[in-house]
Amino acid sequence: MQVRELPDAAPEPRAVEPDVQMEGAGSVPEELLDSYAANHRCHRPGISRAEMASAYTEMAEDYDETLRPGVYNGPVLCAEAAASRVEESRRACARVMDVAAGTGRVGHELHLRGFRNIDAVDPSDGMIQKLESRGLYTNKYVEFVGLGQSTVPKDTYDLVLVAGGMGEGHIPVEGLDDMISMAKPGGEVIIVMRKEYLDYVGEYKDKLEPYMDQLVAKGKWTKVERKVVPNYSYKKDGVIYTYKVT
Ligand SMILES: C[S@@+](CC[C@H](N)C(=O)[O-])C[C@H]1O[C@@H](n2cnc3c(N)ncnc32)[C@H](O)[C@@H]1O
Repeated sequence: MQVRELPDAAPEPRAVEPDVQMEGAGSVPEELLDSYAANHRCHRPGISRAEMASAYTEMAEDYDETLRPGVYNGPVLCAEAAASRVEESRRACARVMDVAAGTGRVGHELHLRGFRNIDAVDPSDGMIQKLESRGLYTNKYVEFVGLGQSTVPKDTYDLVLVAGGMGEGHIPVEGLDDMISMAKPGGEVIIVMRKEYLDYVGEYKDKLEPYMDQLVAKGKWTKVERKVVPNYSYKKDGVIYTYKVT
């Protein structure tokens, strides 16, 4: 029998080529580029807040799979940081506001660690619908944080958390003022975000950390910690900020 030698199979074309317009894509492993591109639709340069909220609504059905644990670890990192600040015996009654709560992944991780009193704010109705279906949140506010129109109760929360809510067209630096207002005096604000956004998101570059420092100088909060962590999302570093509200 003659064995015919097959030519080497041509490599499959990449579904998504790293795009010069897709900031940060160059360092993303090839197998994660489809997910990165889907996520980038909510982060494209110049995206308006309304477009961003609609993009999340369009993505809501696939969000948990596209940004599955391992690809995006913000919810676990955020819940671990929250748990490290509240004794286990106090977690069930601690009041927590999950800012930019999305489909409720942070709530899921908080629940696993004993938190039971969790509220949410997010402007994307599609994401909030998915969050509702988890049945883990008490009060939900469908609105933007940081635009001077917050209806979230003031002086109320022991913890105000943000995972993944910072980015192009997402929470503006003034969102920090809203978060401080939501927290009780002595409460804490924990923000988990992709570190490289400090370098290329115009809203944050040379602005976010100086604004955080200004709030310290004004006596609005004190800095507890700034921690850089590996593998926040797409194998990239994250940064976790923890502040205590005065
Ligand atoms: C990457 S998702 C993160 C969702 C969730 N925290 C998680 O870790 O899975 C970003 C979320 O931020 C929300 N968001 C963006 N800008 C916001 C703003 N100004 N105020 C509140 N939420 C905002 C979006 O609607 C979206 O649901």
